[in-house]
Amino acid sequence: MSRKLVVGNWKMNLTLDQSKDLIQELANNVPFHAYVVIAAPVAYLHPLKDFIVGKRNIHLAAQNVHHEEFGAFTGELSAPMLASLGIEYCIVGHSERRIHFKEKNEVLAQKVTQLLNHNITPIYCVGESLEQREKGKTFDVIKKQLKEGLFHLTSEQIEQVIIAYEPIWAIGTGKNATPEQAEEVHAFIRKYIANKYDEDVADEIPLLYGGSVTTQNAQSLFEKPSIDGGLVGGSSLKSEDFIQVIKANFP
Ligand code: PGA
Repeated sequence: MSRKLVVGNWKMNLTLDQSKDLIQELANNVPFHAYVVIAAPVAYLHPLKDFIVGKRNIHLAAQNVHHEEFGAFTGELSAPMLASLGIEYCIVGHSERRIHFKEKNEVLAQKVTQLLNHNITPIYCVGESLEQREKGKTFDVIKKQLKEGLFHLTSEQIEQVIIAYEPIWAIGTGKNATPEQAEEVHAFIRKYIANKYDEDVADEIPLLYGGSVTTQNAQSLFEKPSIDGGLVGGSSLKSEDFIQVIKANFP
């Protein structure tokens, strides 16, 4: 796994043809040393897996997974199913899933374990609401999300996880955390993990920032020492924008 990466979260957007066009643009234009992960709608993962053959800097993620291995869960998708498609990454606990689908840390912890059992890298999302930030609870919220979602893992397991800090107030709002605000939380996350495990383990884990990353702010965010890359929503849907954001992390 690369410590530096940029993840595009397409959410519920684009047709299959648009997805292929966008990936082709990326493959043609991002630097060879870039490491890009696309969290595509689940229906596209199989055709896109074929489409990215030979595009060595492009990887695929699912946006969600079920916490059970198999069974009577109509409409759901399991970690072994993703593994059978050769999918390498999966977002877990995006705030949209925490809010709209009431996903709790305990279930997210099970999803993380499921993914690791099938050699898929979880991209575990944490982040506070505006109200929590204004009440000075940011660090408490993040601690709880890390503790309950990830701290059941062994050192060897948690080293296989990517963490994305996405303040809810910054997602899709055009109002990003300042590089200083993001760096403060990222440094806190690394220290908190180092306290529970150790510094070597904490240093292995890529920490992404997400929430209104744009061509304008990407470079100043990615320059910060504790920010290894981005989880990018809106700006990952247009090739020109996404290419610029990727280049900001892979100059
Ligand atoms: P945004 O979304 O870049 O559109 O704010 C980020 C995300 O939800 O992962």
